[in-house]
Amino acid sequence: MNLLHRLEQLQLVVVTGKGGVGKSVVTAALGKLLAGRGRKVLLFEVDPRENLHQLLNTQPSGGEIINASPRLYLQHIEPRELIDDLVREKLKVKLLVNRVLGSPVHRHFTEGAPGLKESAVFGRALRMVEGHGPRALRRPDVVILDAPATGHGVSWLAAPQLVADVVRSGPIGHMAELIATFLGDRSRSGVVVVTTAEEMPVEESLELMESLDQRFDREPEAVIANALYPVTDDEESDDPATELWRDRRAINVTQLERIDAAWAGPLAEIPLFPMDPGPALVGAIARQIEAQLRSA
Ligand SMILES: Nc1ncnc2c1ncn2[C@@H]1O[C@H](COP(=O)(O)OP(=O)(O)OP(=O)(O)O)[C@@H](O)[C@H]1O
Ligand SMILES: [Mg+2]
Repeated sequence: MNLLHRLEQLQLVVVTGKGGVGKSVVTAALGKLLAGRGRKVLLFEVDPRENLHQLLNTQPSGGEIINASPRLYLQHIEPRELIDDLVREKLKVKLLVNRVLGSPVHRHFTEGAPGLKESAVFGRALRMVEGHGPRALRRPDVVILDAPATGHGVSWLAAPQLVADVVRSGPIGHMAELIATFLGDRSRSGVVVVTTAEEMPVEESLELMESLDQRFDREPEAVIANALYPVTDDEESDDPATELWRDRRAINVTQLERIDAAWAGPLAEIPLFPMDPGPALVGAIARQIEAQLRSA
Protein backbone atom coordinates (compact mmCIF):
# COMPACT_ATOMS: atom_id res chain seq x y z
CA MET A 1 0.00 0.00 0.00
CA ASN A 2 1.08 3.55 -0.62
CA LEU A 3 2.81 4.62 2.56
CA LEU A 4 1.27 8.07 2.69
CA HIS A 5 -2.10 6.46 2.30
CA ARG A 6 -1.30 4.32 5.32
CA LEU A 7 0.06 7.23 7.35
CA GLU A 8 -3.04 9.27 6.68
CA GLN A 9 -5.17 6.65 8.38
CA LEU A 10 -3.22 6.87 11.61
CA GLN A 11 -4.03 9.07 14.58
CA LEU A 12 -0.48 9.24 15.87
CA VAL A 13 2.85 9.14 14.08
CA VAL A 14 5.99 9.11 16.23
CA VAL A 15 9.05 10.40 14.40
CA THR A 16 12.11 9.07 16.13
CA GLY A 17 15.87 8.83 15.63
CA LYS A 18 19.22 9.88 17.00
CA GLY A 19 20.04 13.54 17.70
CA GLY A 20 20.50 15.78 14.69
CA VAL A 21 19.53 13.27 12.00
CA GLY A 22 16.60 15.34 10.71
CA LYS A 23 13.61 14.34 12.87
CA SER A 24 12.25 17.87 12.95
CA VAL A 25 12.52 18.46 9.19
CA VAL A 26 10.92 15.08 8.51
CA THR A 27 8.14 15.83 11.02
CA ALA A 28 7.46 19.13 9.25
CA ALA A 29 7.60 17.44 5.83
CA LEU A 30 5.20 14.65 6.84
CA GLY A 31 2.89 17.26 8.33
CA LYS A 32 2.89 19.20 5.09
CA LEU A 33 2.23 16.07 3.05
CA LEU A 34 -0.64 14.80 5.18
CA ALA A 35 -2.21 18.27 5.43
CA GLY A 36 -1.91 18.50 1.63
CA ARG A 37 -3.88 15.27 1.43
CA GLY A 38 -6.72 16.72 3.44
CA ARG A 39 -5.87 15.58 6.96
CA LYS A 40 -6.01 17.98 9.87
CA VAL A 41 -2.52 17.61 11.30
CA LEU A 42 -1.08 18.69 14.63
CA LEU A 43 2.68 18.61 15.14
CA PHE A 44 3.84 18.14 18.72
CA GLU A 45 7.25 19.52 19.57
CA VAL A 46 8.71 18.57 22.92
CA ASP A 47 12.23 19.90 22.45
CA PRO A 48 12.68 23.07 24.56
CA ARG A 49 14.69 24.56 21.66
CA GLU A 50 11.60 25.26 19.58
CA ASN A 51 12.45 25.10 15.90
CA LEU A 52 9.46 23.66 14.05
CA HIS A 53 7.93 27.11 13.65
CA GLN A 54 11.05 28.23 11.82
CA LEU A 55 10.79 25.27 9.47
CA LEU A 56 7.16 26.16 8.77
CA ASN A 57 7.73 29.90 8.70
CA THR A 58 5.31 30.76 11.46
CA GLN A 59 5.43 32.24 14.95
CA PRO A 60 6.80 30.20 17.88
CA SER A 61 4.12 28.25 19.70
CA GLY A 62 5.11 29.03 23.27
CA GLY A 63 2.64 26.32 24.29
CA GLU A 64 -0.22 27.57 22.12
CA ILE A 65 -1.66 25.79 19.10
CA ILE A 66 -0.47 27.67 16.02
CA ASN A 67 -2.07 27.31 12.61
CA ALA A 68 0.92 27.26 10.26
CA SER A 69 -0.89 26.65 6.98
CA PRO A 70 -4.19 25.14 5.87
CA ARG A 71 -4.90 22.10 8.07
CA LEU A 72 -1.40 22.17 9.57
CA TYR A 73 -1.03 23.06 13.24
CA LEU A 74 1.87 23.12 15.60
CA GLN A 75 2.17 23.05 19.36
CA HIS A 76 5.11 23.14 21.67
CA ILE A 77 4.56 20.83 24.60
CA GLU A 78 6.09 21.09 28.03
CA PRO A 79 5.48 17.66 29.60
CA ARG A 80 5.65 19.01 33.14
CA GLU A 81 2.84 21.41 32.41
CA LEU A 82 0.72 18.56 31.12
CA ILE A 83 1.24 16.75 34.40
CA ASP A 84 0.31 19.90 36.32
CA ASP A 85 -2.84 20.12 34.20
CA LEU A 86 -3.69 16.57 35.19
CA VAL A 87 -3.33 17.47 38.85
CA ARG A 88 -5.61 20.49 38.32
CA GLU A 89 -8.15 18.32 36.61
CA LYS A 90 -8.17 15.60 39.21
CA LEU A 91 -7.98 17.83 42.28
CA LYS A 92 -10.63 20.39 41.79
CA VAL A 93 -10.07 22.23 45.08
CA LYS A 94 -7.90 25.21 44.31
CA LEU A 95 -6.08 25.37 47.62
CA LEU A 96 -5.14 21.73 47.31
CA VAL A 97 -4.02 22.16 43.72
CA ASN A 98 -1.73 25.01 44.66
CA ARG A 99 -0.28 23.05 47.53
CA VAL A 100 0.41 20.01 45.40
CA LEU A 101 1.85 21.94 42.48
CA GLY A 102 3.99 24.04 44.78
CA SER A 103 5.36 21.14 46.73
CA PRO A 104 8.90 19.90 46.19
CA VAL A 105 7.59 16.34 46.41
CA HIS A 106 5.41 16.89 43.35
CA ARG A 107 8.31 18.45 41.41
CA HIS A 108 10.57 15.65 42.45
CA PHE A 109 8.01 13.06 41.48
CA THR A 110 7.21 14.47 38.05
CA GLU A 111 10.90 14.89 37.23
CA GLY A 112 11.89 11.50 38.52
CA ALA A 113 9.02 9.11 37.89
CA PRO A 114 10.02 7.02 34.90
CA GLY A 115 7.68 7.26 31.97
CA LEU A 116 5.37 9.88 33.44
CA LYS A 117 6.31 12.76 31.16
CA GLU A 118 6.22 10.64 28.03
CA SER A 119 2.86 9.23 29.05
CA ALA A 120 1.52 12.72 29.61
CA VAL A 121 2.54 13.72 26.07
CA PHE A 122 0.91 10.65 24.52
CA GLY A 123 -2.10 11.16 26.75
CA ARG A 124 -2.55 14.66 25.37
CA ALA A 125 -2.24 13.36 21.81
CA LEU A 126 -4.85 10.70 22.51
CA ARG A 127 -7.27 13.16 24.05
CA MET A 128 -6.94 15.48 21.10
CA VAL A 129 -7.54 12.88 18.40
CA GLU A 130 -10.54 11.76 20.39
CA GLY A 131 -12.01 15.23 20.10
CA HIS A 132 -11.18 16.73 23.49
CA GLY A 133 -8.83 19.42 22.26
CA PRO A 134 -9.15 23.13 23.06
CA ARG A 135 -11.27 25.44 20.96
CA ALA A 136 -8.35 26.34 18.69
CA LEU A 137 -8.26 22.75 17.47
CA ARG A 138 -10.89 20.47 18.84
CA ARG A 139 -10.02 17.36 16.92
CA PRO A 140 -6.95 16.87 14.75
CA ASP A 141 -7.05 13.77 12.53
CA VAL A 142 -3.46 12.96 13.29
CA VAL A 143 -0.79 14.07 15.75
CA ILE A 144 2.81 13.80 14.60
CA LEU A 145 5.25 13.71 17.49
CA ASP A 146 8.73 15.05 16.90
CA ALA A 147 10.18 12.81 19.63
CA PRO A 148 13.20 14.13 21.50
CA ALA A 149 16.48 12.34 20.91
CA THR A 150 17.14 11.85 24.62
CA GLY A 151 17.37 8.19 25.53
CA HIS A 152 16.27 5.59 23.09
CA GLY A 153 13.26 6.16 20.86
CA VAL A 154 11.81 2.96 22.19
CA SER A 155 11.89 4.23 25.77
CA TRP A 156 9.27 6.79 24.72
CA LEU A 157 7.00 4.12 23.36
CA ALA A 158 7.57 1.84 26.32
CA ALA A 159 6.83 4.56 28.87
CA PRO A 160 3.04 4.20 29.15
CA GLN A 161 3.23 0.45 29.71
CA LEU A 162 5.89 1.04 32.32
CA VAL A 163 3.63 3.48 34.13
CA ALA A 164 0.64 1.16 33.76
CA ASP A 165 2.65 -1.70 35.28
CA VAL A 166 3.78 0.36 38.25
CA VAL A 167 0.60 2.34 38.92
CA ARG A 168 -2.00 -0.34 38.55
CA SER A 169 -5.05 1.55 39.67
CA GLY A 170 -6.46 5.02 39.93
CA PRO A 171 -6.74 7.65 37.21
CA ILE A 172 -3.05 7.61 36.27
CA GLY A 173 -2.88 3.84 35.96
CA HIS A 174 -6.06 3.82 33.94
CA MET A 175 -4.80 6.57 31.64
CA ALA A 176 -1.48 4.80 31.13
CA GLU A 177 -3.28 1.59 30.25
CA LEU A 178 -5.41 3.39 27.64
CA ILE A 179 -2.34 5.02 26.13
CA ALA A 180 -0.39 1.76 26.03
CA THR A 181 -3.30 0.17 24.17
CA PHE A 182 -3.42 3.11 21.76
CA LEU A 183 0.32 2.81 21.08
CA GLY A 184 0.06 -0.92 20.63
CA ASP A 185 -2.66 -0.59 18.00
CA ARG A 186 -1.11 -0.46 14.54
CA SER A 187 -4.30 0.76 12.99
CA ARG A 188 -4.04 3.89 15.13
CA SER A 189 -0.36 4.66 15.72
CA GLY A 190 2.86 4.30 13.79
CA VAL A 191 6.57 4.97 14.04
CA VAL A 192 8.81 6.59 11.44
CA VAL A 193 12.54 6.10 11.96
CA VAL A 194 14.86 8.82 10.70
CA THR A 195 18.57 8.21 10.34
CA THR A 196 21.56 9.54 8.49
CA ALA A 197 23.54 6.90 6.58
CA GLU A 198 26.42 6.98 9.01
CA GLU A 199 27.67 4.26 11.26
CA MET A 200 26.36 5.30 14.68
CA PRO A 201 22.91 6.53 13.67
CA VAL A 202 22.37 3.40 11.58
CA GLU A 203 23.56 1.22 14.45
CA GLU A 204 21.05 2.88 16.76
CA SER A 205 18.24 2.74 14.22
CA LEU A 206 18.72 -0.97 13.65
CA GLU A 207 18.73 -1.53 17.41
CA LEU A 208 15.59 0.53 17.70
CA MET A 209 13.87 -1.52 15.03
CA GLU A 210 14.90 -4.70 16.76
CA SER A 211 13.42 -3.52 20.06
CA LEU A 212 10.25 -2.42 18.29
CA ASP A 213 9.97 -5.92 16.97
CA GLN A 214 10.82 -7.69 20.21
CA ARG A 215 8.98 -5.50 22.68
CA PHE A 216 6.02 -4.33 20.65
CA ASP A 217 5.86 -6.89 17.89
CA ARG A 218 5.79 -4.13 15.32
CA GLU A 219 7.91 -2.53 12.67
CA PRO A 220 8.25 1.09 11.63
CA GLU A 221 5.96 2.44 8.94
CA ALA A 222 9.01 3.72 7.11
CA VAL A 223 12.71 4.39 7.46
CA ILE A 224 13.98 7.73 6.21
CA ALA A 225 17.69 7.78 5.31
CA ASN A 226 18.35 11.49 5.39
CA ALA A 227 20.98 13.99 4.32
CA LEU A 228 22.78 11.72 1.86
CA TYR A 229 25.77 13.07 0.01
CA PRO A 230 25.13 13.09 -3.71
CA VAL A 231 27.36 11.18 -6.10
CA THR A 232 30.20 13.39 -7.30
CA ASP A 233 30.81 13.29 -11.02
CA ASP A 234 34.44 14.18 -10.45
CA GLU A 235 35.88 10.79 -9.49
CA GLU A 236 39.49 11.73 -10.22
CA SER A 237 39.80 15.06 -8.46
CA ASP A 238 42.23 15.31 -5.54
CA ASP A 239 40.74 18.57 -4.39
CA PRO A 240 40.35 18.06 -0.59
CA ALA A 241 36.71 19.20 -0.57
CA THR A 242 35.77 16.81 -3.37
CA GLU A 243 37.71 14.05 -1.66
CA LEU A 244 35.86 14.62 1.59
CA TRP A 245 32.59 14.58 -0.33
CA ARG A 246 33.53 11.28 -1.97
CA ASP A 247 34.50 9.76 1.40
CA ARG A 248 31.18 10.82 2.88
CA ARG A 249 29.31 9.40 -0.05
CA ALA A 250 31.24 6.10 0.30
CA ILE A 251 30.20 5.90 3.97
CA ASN A 252 26.59 6.59 2.95
CA VAL A 253 26.70 3.78 0.38
CA THR A 254 28.05 1.25 2.90
CA GLN A 255 25.49 2.24 5.50
CA LEU A 256 22.61 2.18 3.03
CA GLU A 257 23.60 -1.39 2.19
CA ARG A 258 23.46 -2.18 5.86
CA ILE A 259 19.95 -0.74 6.13
CA ASP A 260 18.92 -2.63 3.02
CA ALA A 261 20.15 -5.91 4.45
CA ALA A 262 18.12 -5.44 7.63
CA TRP A 263 15.00 -3.68 6.37
CA ALA A 264 12.79 -4.64 3.44
CA GLY A 265 10.00 -2.17 4.19
CA PRO A 266 9.41 1.37 2.92
CA LEU A 267 12.62 3.39 2.70
CA ALA A 268 13.16 6.91 1.43
CA GLU A 269 16.63 8.20 0.60
CA ILE A 270 16.75 11.95 1.03
CA PRO A 271 19.68 13.96 -0.30
CA LEU A 272 21.51 16.60 1.65
CA PHE A 273 20.10 19.77 0.16
CA PRO A 274 22.24 22.91 0.01
CA MET A 275 19.56 24.87 1.85
CA ASP A 276 19.14 26.56 5.20
CA PRO A 277 16.46 25.24 7.53
CA GLY A 278 13.12 26.68 6.46
CA PRO A 279 10.03 26.01 4.38
CA ALA A 280 11.99 25.50 1.15
CA LEU A 281 14.02 22.70 2.72
CA VAL A 282 10.87 21.15 4.19
CA GLY A 283 9.21 21.32 0.78
CA ALA A 284 12.17 19.66 -0.92
CA ILE A 285 12.21 16.85 1.65
CA ALA A 286 8.44 16.42 1.40
CA ARG A 287 8.64 16.04 -2.39
CA GLN A 288 11.33 13.38 -2.04
CA ILE A 289 9.36 11.45 0.57
CA GLU A 290 6.24 11.61 -1.54
CA ALA A 291 7.96 10.50 -4.74
CA GLN A 292 9.85 7.65 -3.12
CA LEU A 293 7.15 6.32 -0.84
CA ARG A 294 4.34 6.53 -3.34
CA SER A 295 4.83 2.96 -4.38
CA ALA A 296 6.40 1.62 -1.19
N1 LIG B 1 18.14 16.59 3.87
C1 LIG B 1 18.68 17.69 4.40
N2 LIG B 1 19.32 18.60 3.64
C2 LIG B 1 19.88 19.69 4.20
N3 LIG B 1 19.84 20.00 5.50
C3 LIG B 1 19.22 19.12 6.32
C4 LIG B 1 18.60 17.94 5.82
N4 LIG B 1 18.05 17.28 6.88
C5 LIG B 1 18.31 18.01 7.97
N5 LIG B 1 19.02 19.12 7.65
C6 LIG B 1 19.51 20.14 8.59
O1 LIG B 1 20.23 19.46 9.61
C7 LIG B 1 19.98 20.02 10.87
C8 LIG B 1 19.37 18.97 11.79
O2 LIG B 1 18.05 18.66 11.33
P1 LIG B 1 16.86 18.56 12.38
O3 LIG B 1 16.86 19.73 13.28
O4 LIG B 1 15.62 18.25 11.65
O5 LIG B 1 17.36 17.27 13.17
P2 LIG B 1 16.77 16.66 14.52
O6 LIG B 1 16.91 15.19 14.41
O7 LIG B 1 15.43 17.21 14.76
O8 LIG B 1 17.80 17.23 15.58
P3 LIG B 1 17.63 17.24 17.20
O9 LIG B 1 17.85 15.83 17.64
O10 LIG B 1 18.70 18.18 17.62
O11 LIG B 1 16.24 17.71 17.48
C9 LIG B 1 19.06 21.21 10.63
O12 LIG B 1 19.84 22.37 10.51
C10 LIG B 1 18.40 20.88 9.31
O13 LIG B 1 18.01 22.05 8.64
MG1 LIG C 1 14.65 18.30 16.35
